[in-house]
Amino acid sequence: MKNYILAPSILSADFARLAEEISTVEAAGADWIHVDVMDGHFVPNITMGPFIVETFRRITSLPLDVHLMIEKPERYLEAFAKAGASGLTVHVETCPDIVATLRQIKSLGCTAGAVLNPETPVGKIQPALAEADLILVMSVHPGYSGQRFIPETVSKVSEIRKKLNALRSSAWLEVDGGIDVESLPRMKEAGATAFVAATAVFKHPEGAAQGVRTLRDVIASEAKQSPRL
Ligand code: DX5
Ligand code: ZN
Repeated sequence: MKNYILAPSILSADFARLAEEISTVEAAGADWIHVDVMDGHFVPNITMGPFIVETFRRITSLPLDVHLMIEKPERYLEAFAKAGASGLTVHVETCPDIVATLRQIKSLGCTAGAVLNPETPVGKIQPALAEADLILVMSVHPGYSGQRFIPETVSKVSEIRKKLNALRSSAWLEVDGGIDVESLPRMKEAGATAFVAATAVFKHPEGAAQGVRTLRDVIASEAKQSPRL
């Protein structure tokens, strides 16, 4: 298994060339495809649902890392699992009983992720740490791609890394929002192991394949340091 994951977020892809965009990033070395689901309630934007996830599932064999920015996510977990999601990540802000929701996700055969917003204190994710396969730290306010990285979230990643290590958890520590050649090394040094990027991949001036290769190079450049040591 790889030590570090690069997960291009399909939100910034050209949907008129969806299959081509996905196969381009897959061939260039993407590990997962990150799918941003937004409901117009938890976040202002509206994006995609299970139907599109089912389409992605037919286009690629890469794991589909589905980020649910929706109210009452427990109502939709089964639909996304059936559509072919590999991992389902729910916001702690939307889950009154995060442990129960993570268990529900696992019972559907998916890897279970918990995510917190930039303004949400680390304490809110504490109950999820021992249960989750993935912890996601938002480094922008969720809703749109192309926003500026919030530097205060780096210390949040360090704090969660320490807690995961103390629990001897092998959960992925993922970061999402404004991840590029400058912010990625900072998040990696803080202990992140999975990196989501929409703009830095799909809006790369030399194309999405080069976007993937550039971020892969940044990840590899300090690969001697293991965040789990
Ligand atoms: C934001 C989404 C992100 C977004 C990242 O709400 O969760 O996954 O697509 O976009 P960039 O990499 O452009 O910040
Ligand atoms: Zn996301």
